[in-house]
Amino acid sequence: MFNKKTIDDINTKGKRVLLRCDFNVPISKETGEITDENRIVSSLPTIKKLIADGAKVILCSHMGKPKGVPSKSLSLAPVAERLSEHLGKEVRFLDYDDVVNDEVKEIVSAMKDGDVVLLQNTRFRKEETKNEENFSKELASLCDIYINDAFGSAHRAHCSVAGVTDFVDTNAVGYLMEKEIRILGGALDEPERPFTVILGGAKVSDKIEVIDNLINKADTLIIGGGMAYTFIYAKGYGIGKSLLEADKTQYALDMMKKAEEKGVKLLIPVDTVVAKDFDNDAEHFTVDIENIPDDTLGVDIGEKTIELFTNAIKESKTVIWNGPMGVFEMPNYAKGTEAIAKTMAEIDAVTIIGGGDSAAAVDQMGYGEKMTHVSTGGGASLEFLSGVDLPGVSAVDEK
Ligand code: 3PG
Repeated sequence: MFNKKTIDDINTKGKRVLLRCDFNVPISKETGEITDENRIVSSLPTIKKLIADGAKVILCSHMGKPKGVPSKSLSLAPVAERLSEHLGKEVRFLDYDDVVNDEVKEIVSAMKDGDVVLLQNTRFRKEETKNEENFSKELASLCDIYINDAFGSAHRAHCSVAGVTDFVDTNAVGYLMEKEIRILGGALDEPERPFTVILGGAKVSDKIEVIDNLINKADTLIIGGGMAYTFIYAKGYGIGKSLLEADKTQYALDMMKKAEEKGVKLLIPVDTVVAKDFDNDAEHFTVDIENIPDDTLGVDIGEKTIELFTNAIKESKTVIWNGPMGVFEMPNYAKGTEAIAKTMAEIDAVTIIGGGDSAAAVDQMGYGEKMTHVSTGGGASLEFLSGVDLPGVSAVDEK
């Protein structure tokens, strides 16, 4: 059950509010432009609420992995600009590589109600990812209230996500964080059934905890994408040059057995598109999993598998999807991923996209709006699905 203090439980009028967002958005190397602003747009309801309530809004976020070394390419300057456009008011960018210093403190203390500033990339400080007390205290010194709306970063026990809460009296979650936890948590705890989980992406090893957790909750577990070839191999078939994690074959066998014992339907591909090379224009064709040629690699699910998987999805009342079915970035191998997205968009069910590549695929294919929820978390939603407590959520006070 969701029991955290939220932005609606506190009075922020005239208060300095430090709002942690996840503005870690992709930026084009060529143009320096933001190429996907979903995380920015998703943060707007909380920011607008704080402005409307007359708070002094101090935004902060990380961007990329600068490891304590400031670099212009990981500056949050383009985010400040985009935010100003969306909000129709200036978001003053405090472009100081040390993030918090005397000048920043002075600017913050001169802020008026409703003003908005954005601090520089919190990871320009090496203490951030080590959750070191001194930086947590510096961040805390800027504010009266701390609000965490950065679901995408909630799995990181970093200063601006977790440590800072030790030094601020009042803290809460924002609307985005609340929505993510309510929807993902609701689907896991009390799903309308049948409940289907679709997992894809490259590696079994990235999804072990998720499979372990969800096999106890789902009615149907669908395995596609690169990780499926380890399952196919475990069943005794040759997989050519496809992705294989040989050390996970026993795990795959154990999971297939466990699913059978628990009465969970575990579906893996029955046919696959294979290509001679990892190239969109390489020679490619569809084969049953029993007949994968040695000199090919699997790049997408085949037609029979699309039918098998989409039929299961159509019967479901709750569907969570994480990880593409094939190399969807290459148009010739995007069919399986698109079929899953399209089917989920069309059914009358709770449909949740668990962030990362599948969220990018769904948005790129134009189905984002048709889903119940597209998570802004990649690693965070995976960890959430695996059932672990997220430090950024645990750190916030309960009601
Ligand atoms: C993400 O993009 O998943 C989040 O912003 C977290 O980023 P990180 O993996 O660099 O911590």
